[in-house]
Amino acid sequence: NVLILDFGSQYTQLIARRVRELNIYCEIFPFHKIPENLADFKAVILSGSPFSVRNPEAPKPDLSKIKSKFPVLGVCFGAQFMAHNFGGLVASSNTREFGRANLSYVDPTSDLFEGITEQSQVWMSHSDSIKELPEQAKCIASTADVKFAAYKFQDELTYGIQFHPEVYHSTDGKKLLENFLVKIAGVPQTWTPSAFVDMTVADLKEKIGNDKVVLGLSGGVDSTVAATLLHKAIGKQLYCIFVNNGLLRKDEFTSVLDQYKHMGLNVKGVDASTYFLDKLEGISDPEQKRKIIGNAFIDIFDDEAGQIKDVVYLAQGTIYPDVIESISVNGPSATIKSHHNVGGLPDFMKLKVVEPLRMLFKDEVRRVGAEMNIDAKLLGRHPFPGPGLAIRILGDITAEKVKLVQEVDHVFIQALREWKLYDKVWQAGAILLPVESVGVMGDERTYEKVVALRAVESTDGMTADWVDLPYKFLQYVSNTIINKVKGVNRVVYDISSKPPATIEWE
Ligand code: XMP
Repeated sequence: NVLILDFGSQYTQLIARRVRELNIYCEIFPFHKIPENLADFKAVILSGSPFSVRNPEAPKPDLSKIKSKFPVLGVCFGAQFMAHNFGGLVASSNTREFGRANLSYVDPTSDLFEGITEQSQVWMSHSDSIKELPEQAKCIASTADVKFAAYKFQDELTYGIQFHPEVYHSTDGKKLLENFLVKIAGVPQTWTPSAFVDMTVADLKEKIGNDKVVLGLSGGVDSTVAATLLHKAIGKQLYCIFVNNGLLRKDEFTSVLDQYKHMGLNVKGVDASTYFLDKLEGISDPEQKRKIIGNAFIDIFDDEAGQIKDVVYLAQGTIYPDVIESISVNGPSATIKSHHNVGGLPDFMKLKVVEPLRMLFKDEVRRVGAEMNIDAKLLGRHPFPGPGLAIRILGDITAEKVKLVQEVDHVFIQALREWKLYDKVWQAGAILLPVESVGVMGDERTYEKVVALRAVESTDGMTADWVDLPYKFLQYVSNTIINKVKGVNRVVYDISSKPPATIEWE
């Protein structure tokens, strides 16, 4: 187990993901909440930070139980913090150093740089520099602009590096992390999907015993993988509920339900389309739509869960990014990200919560799913918002509009699959605009609907860019939609990035 102390860097989660890619388990803690019991940890990584170490407000972790007691790797701020606090000097650099650089010197005897050559590309992102090293420390790498790109405290396994090994542009970054964790710290590489499955299934069995668990399936990756793990552990004691809110993609309710049944899950499909659509009647405000859908889901779910006699647990597909305590950059106070999955259960349900994925990143959830032989098509599905097509119909929602946008979306998504573009796109869908535009059909003028198509590339949905789909493809999709979907005479393609636009239109 590896401890990552977070000082608020935008890259902290990336460090954790890189470590996990080495099949090594790690956990992120805020710098001011160092765990009392460090016995489980074999190495410590100190993250970067938006602060300068010279700023009086900067994080000041107490490293007395860590430095010289564990192998330590300080990254960027982490390296500067140790230099600054143990006798070195950190000052503002004359030039801000951002982006690519190449190593110009590497200590040939250094374990940390074993197998990494001079000239290796590294990614810099800092405006302070280490000007003098502490007396006990020795320089082990430099770039043309940064003399102390890496150092080591002699007689300890304490290292500092100015660059970011976790970002993709540091070409030997993974090798460096491997050298530190495996060669230097001797951490075993046992965190594999199959080990995770075995361990989690055993834990779930022990925790749950003979009790019953209820879980809401959404058709998405997280709830599917969570259900599969629980199914392996407790079989028919797991009761899954899959609600049709009437705002899913075309035929999704039946096809996904079939797939779940095929997987052996004990799943009940509840078609509540009319309940949701009735509640949404006449509502145009996006936030109100979201609230109504959230509450309606709770009504239905609670009703269904209440019918399961003696149910004790509620299972949720919460994943690690939802539970990491994030550091506020405006000060060292910690805030917990609010997210619809966390604490999302209504008080009156009074069930104990079980979250088998709470320590996994999204890419790990997929790998665990693949390990359990979940269909690749299910695991590779694009994200789809909880409120579904309700936020892709601008303005008020009617059953006819839902049907229309389902048809358009279906043509688009099918075509992405047929043209082998589906996996190149992070998320895609169709939006029904609240305007009618003029057209001609035969000799007559028509006023019909406009639909927008949206396809984006992204890694986490926080930023996104539109996908450069081939014109031939867009032409095919547009023709098919206009020929097949009655009531649409115009198709447009959204070419806005996020920011400033968002992925959804509402
Ligand atoms: P935006 O539109 O904010 O979307 O750029 C980012 C990601 O979040 C999804 N999204 C939602 N998911 N409930 C959800 O479960 C919502 O209310 C919601 N709004 C947006 C969106 O589909 C994209 O993946």
